[in-house]
Amino acid sequence: MINLFNPASALPDPKNRSFYCSLFIVASLICGAYFIGGASIAKEYKERLTRWKVIYTRQNTKFDTCKNRCQPLGSEALPEGIVAKTSDLEVRPLWGSSVNNENSKPSMSLLAIAVGIKQKEIVDRIVKKFLSSDFVVMLFHYDGAVDKWRDLNWSDRAIHVSVMNQTKWWFAKRFLHPDIVSEYEYIFLWDEDLGVENFDPKRYLSIVREEGLEISQPALDPDKSDVYHPITARVKKLKVHRRFYKFKGSGRCDNHSSAPPCAGWVEMMAPVFSKAAWQCVWYMIQNDLIHAWGLDVQLGYCAQGDRTKNVGVVDSEYIVHLGLPTLGVSDGNKVTNAPAPPQKGDPEALAPSASDKVNDRAKDAVLY
Ligand SMILES: *[C@@H]1O[C@H](CO)[C@@H](O)[C@H](O)[C@H]1NC(C)=O
Ligand SMILES: *[C@@H]1O[C@H](CO)[C@@H](O)[C@H](O)[C@H]1NC(C)=O
Ligand SMILES: *[C@@H]1O[C@H](CO)[C@@H](O)[C@H](O)[C@H]1NC(C)=O
Repeated sequence: MINLFNPASALPDPKNRSFYCSLFIVASLICGAYFIGGASIAKEYKERLTRWKVIYTRQNTKFDTCKNRCQPLGSEALPEGIVAKTSDLEVRPLWGSSVNNENSKPSMSLLAIAVGIKQKEIVDRIVKKFLSSDFVVMLFHYDGAVDKWRDLNWSDRAIHVSVMNQTKWWFAKRFLHPDIVSEYEYIFLWDEDLGVENFDPKRYLSIVREEGLEISQPALDPDKSDVYHPITARVKKLKVHRRFYKFKGSGRCDNHSSAPPCAGWVEMMAPVFSKAAWQCVWYMIQNDLIHAWGLDVQLGYCAQGDRTKNVGVVDSEYIVHLGLPTLGVSDGNKVTNAPAPPQKGDPEALAPSASDKVNDRAKDAVLY
C-alpha cells in the first residue's frame, strides 16, 4: 500500500500509475466498507451471509492483486493507451465511417427483454414504445425463433440474441456485462408479458432521475394484473411509492419498516436499474440463479445507499402484468415453479416472495 502512493515507486510512468492505483484502492475500500455495512444491517439474511463473506474475501484478494498491477487481468503486456475498459452495444457499418459523432450522443438507456414468438404482438407494442423513445433494444430469444420477427420493420434496429430455453437472467449475465453496457444510463430488464398502454419510457426516465431511484419498477395496474406482492400495486394519484402499509395481522409494515417486504425492493418481472446499480446487481447473478428467486429481497445491497430511499415503484407510469405463458410456464396452466397467485386477505400472501415457498430450489435462494 505504502509504495503505491509514492511517486518514487519502481514502476514505469509512476505518476499515472500511482494515480490509477490510488483510485482503484479507494474504490476497493468503498466496496469493502459497503459490504461490511450491508452485512451488519441485514441480520435477517443470516443464511446467505456465509456466501457474502466469501465474496468479501474475494474483494480483498482483488485488492491484494492490485498492489502489483492495476491493469485489467491479462492486459499487463499492452502499452498504455490501448486498453479501453468499456464498450457498448452499438452496431457499426462494415464500410465507410460511422455517421455518429461520439460527442453528440445523447444519454441512452437499454431495454433488454426475453421473448418468445407466441408473445409477438405484445412485444411489438413494447418495443415500438421504447424505440421511439431512443432506447437501444435487445431481444433475448429463448425459443430460437429469431427469423419470425424479421417482418417487423424495427427488427433490424434491435439486437437479437438467441439461445434456447434460457431465462433473462442467464442472458443478462452473459450479454450485459457492466463494461459492455456502461454507456447506458438505465437498464430495463423486462419480462415479455407486460401491457404498456399507460407507460411512457421517457416520462418514466425523468421520474426516476428526479426521485433518485437507483432500482425501480413501474407499478402494476391491480385491476388488470396478477399482483403477487402488494408493494408493486399501483397507488392511484401518487407519482411514486417506496413502501406499503399493513397494520393488521402478522408481518406489519409501517413508516418505520425498512426491509422487504415493506420497503427496499421491487419484483424481478420489470426491474429498472441505474448504471451504478446494474454494476452491482450483475455480480449477484450467479450460475445457480436461474429464476432469480430471492434476488429481489437482496437488491438493497445494490441501492447505492439507503434502500428505503433509492428503491421504489413508479405509480404514474404503470403497466399490466398479463400473466401469459412464457418461458418456464407451460401453455394454459402454470407449472409448479411459477408463482402461485396470493389469496385476498391471506397474510401469507404478504410475505416476501410468498411464492418461493412452493419450490425447494427457492428455499435455498431465499434468506429470511
Ligand atoms: C413501422 O410500421 C409502423 C406500422 O406498423 C409505422 O407506423 C412506422 O412508422 C414504421 N416505422 C418505420 C421506421 O418504418
Ligand atoms: C427447450 O424446451 C422445450 C420444452 O421444454 C423442449 O421441448 C426442447 O427440447 C428444449 N430445447 C433445448 C434445445 O433444450
Ligand atoms: C408516514 O410518514 C409520512 C411522512 O412522514 C406521513 O405523511 C404519513 O402520514 C405517515 N403514514 C402513516 C400511516 O403513519
